[in-house]
Amino acid sequence: MDTLTLQSTIRMNNGVEIPRFGLGTFQSKAGEETYNAVRWALEMGYRHIDTAALYGNEEDVGRAIADSGIPREEIFLVTKVWNDDQGYESTLRALEASLRHLKTDYVDLYLIHWPVKGLRHETWKAMVEIYKQGKARAVGVSNYTIRHLEELLSNTELVPAANQIEFSPFLYRKALLEYCVQHGIVVEAYSPLARAQKLEDPRLTAMAQKYGKTPAQIALRWALQHDLVVIPKSVRKERILENASIFDFELSAEDMAEMDTWNEDYWTISESYNPECSPRWE
Ligand SMILES: NC(=O)c1ccc[n+]([C@@H]2O[C@H](COP(=O)([O-])OP(=O)(O)OC[C@H]3O[C@@H](n4cnc5c(N)ncnc54)[C@H](OP(=O)(O)O)[C@@H]3O)[C@@H](O)[C@H]2O)c1
Repeated sequence: MDTLTLQSTIRMNNGVEIPRFGLGTFQSKAGEETYNAVRWALEMGYRHIDTAALYGNEEDVGRAIADSGIPREEIFLVTKVWNDDQGYESTLRALEASLRHLKTDYVDLYLIHWPVKGLRHETWKAMVEIYKQGKARAVGVSNYTIRHLEELLSNTELVPAANQIEFSPFLYRKALLEYCVQHGIVVEAYSPLARAQKLEDPRLTAMAQKYGKTPAQIALRWALQHDLVVIPKSVRKERILENASIFDFELSAEDMAEMDTWNEDYWTISESYNPECSPRWE
């Protein structure tokens, strides 16, 4: 394996490089909480920030990026169109609003947040238009299952660059990952820490002890070694640093294989949101 760093990237199917590690901002409160988290992350060397219109913190993300002094083109910025804005014209408008909030004239990756029934195809057409206009350097989807991707791929000439999905050692979505790899779609792992709900799992704490690392670091390293893009969220300075301190060790092939057996279909999102079984996303 090549030596990975905090700034290592994966080349997406349109040639654009996405940093393999980023800061998540879901439930980071608008105002100083989000602003400080993004400032600290950028100071520590993070170069990828994940937000969404839904999170209500795009303005703080934008302000932190502007104040960081780091050239905009060195930062990979992701946002998403929320469900209420899906449809062709409304998606174009939603992107304009996000750009205003983020104080930028482009995003690096624009995602369809959820595969909304009846609207997602029109939304994707808008994503293609946004990409053609250069307002997003890449466009992709989120929470798409194999069925949603099959439907999309049979209806478009533009293959999504990424699919952002819930993924952790306790939710190892192997078939979906393999499908995405086969079709050249980068997988981004969200809730890679299972929202801190499984950090005391004895298998994880034992593995952490073995490597002299924290349970969070082991979970993140596992995702990284599966060639996923990983976007843990924290608003605490010490954890933002802890989560990024995973580039000085490597899980052995045996331990990766061991962790691959830990799947228990552990979703942190509520059942009504689970894209694999909720009629909401049919
Ligand atoms: N596309 C989607 O539908 C979708 C859905 C969910 C999430 N996401 C994206 O993915 C990002 C990450 O997912 P997530 O926020 O759901 O969950 P996560 O990153 O798995 O976990 C975040 C939680 O873990 C805590 N935490 C962080 N680092 C820790 C550490 N080292 N030790 C102990 N606790 C730690 C955080 O608290 P503190 O902040 O207090 O440290 C927070 O409560 C989101 O922020 C968002 O950007 C996307």
